[in-house]
Amino acid sequence: METPATLDSLLRDLRARLEAAGIEAPGLEARMLLGAATGLDTAQLIAHGTDPATPEQAARADTLCQRRCAGEPMAHILGRRSFWTLDLGVSPACLIPRPETELLVEQALLAIDTLATDTPWVLDLGTGPGTIILALKSERPRIRAFASDRSHAALQQAQTNARDLGLPVGLWQGDWLDALTPTAGLDIITCNPPYIDPDDPHLTRGDLRFEPRSALAADAHGLADLYRVIDTARPHLNRGGWLLLEHGFDQGPAVRDRLQQAGYRAIRTLRDPAGHERTTLGMH
Ligand SMILES: C[S@@+](CC[C@H](N)C(=O)[O-])C[C@H]1O[C@@H](n2cnc3c(N)ncnc32)[C@H](O)[C@@H]1O
Repeated sequence: METPATLDSLLRDLRARLEAAGIEAPGLEARMLLGAATGLDTAQLIAHGTDPATPEQAARADTLCQRRCAGEPMAHILGRRSFWTLDLGVSPACLIPRPETELLVEQALLAIDTLATDTPWVLDLGTGPGTIILALKSERPRIRAFASDRSHAALQQAQTNARDLGLPVGLWQGDWLDALTPTAGLDIITCNPPYIDPDDPHLTRGDLRFEPRSALAADAHGLADLYRVIDTARPHLNRGGWLLLEHGFDQGPAVRDRLQQAGYRAIRTLRDPAGHERTTLGMH
């Protein structure tokens, strides 16, 4: 009779398959997939490594591994992604939160702390699964947090995350700022819009293949949505309020020029940990 696989041998098998498929961190991902297949965390997988795996656990691990080897993002397979200090639910309907967006969160927190009010009005445009606004609300619970997106499915995910994390955020569906009357009243507007050139070959590689094109690509070499937000946001801001934008590594000069043309002051760009210009802000 065949000896049943142990959790350890299953882990080794998953790791070897992921490595053969060219996955960058096969050991880590093998543990994550086995964890998802068994419901055990890393410490439990170590403690129970010599236990036999049940046929159901082995079958679930096999299916998850097949999906990953076919290139599906880990965040979609697990349905979750860590961002800032939060564990966010994600789906194929929204962008998978990226570590570089934490720079925008850091800068928005600094901007919030410079305001005269400690209950500022904060709006996140194109919120996806609530990435930026939930991080801000978790750090500064007194902000009046609002967020919108054009995608109904993305907003549903944002709503689920806000509820699960116990972070109240007002959400609505809309095309950038179109639904709002431009009367000053907001203190901070954050936005990580689609900014990839539609002809960029990266759109056909890696995780990007599985994410909605409407969350990634914008006309005018990726600048169309950035320009639209810059051109329409200022009348919504209180004097001394800030617009913070994430953009592509080579879009800093264009974003700064446009902010200047639109009348913003104190314009500056910050670099992400990889050294790329990534977040630009301007004050009304
Ligand atoms: C790059 S994703 C950012 C998601 C999330 N804020 C983050 O930082 O991870 C861009 C988001 O903008 C939304 N979006 C695209 N066009 C939009 C529009 N015209 N009006 C409002 N939201 C839009 C997309 O649905 C997507 O959720």
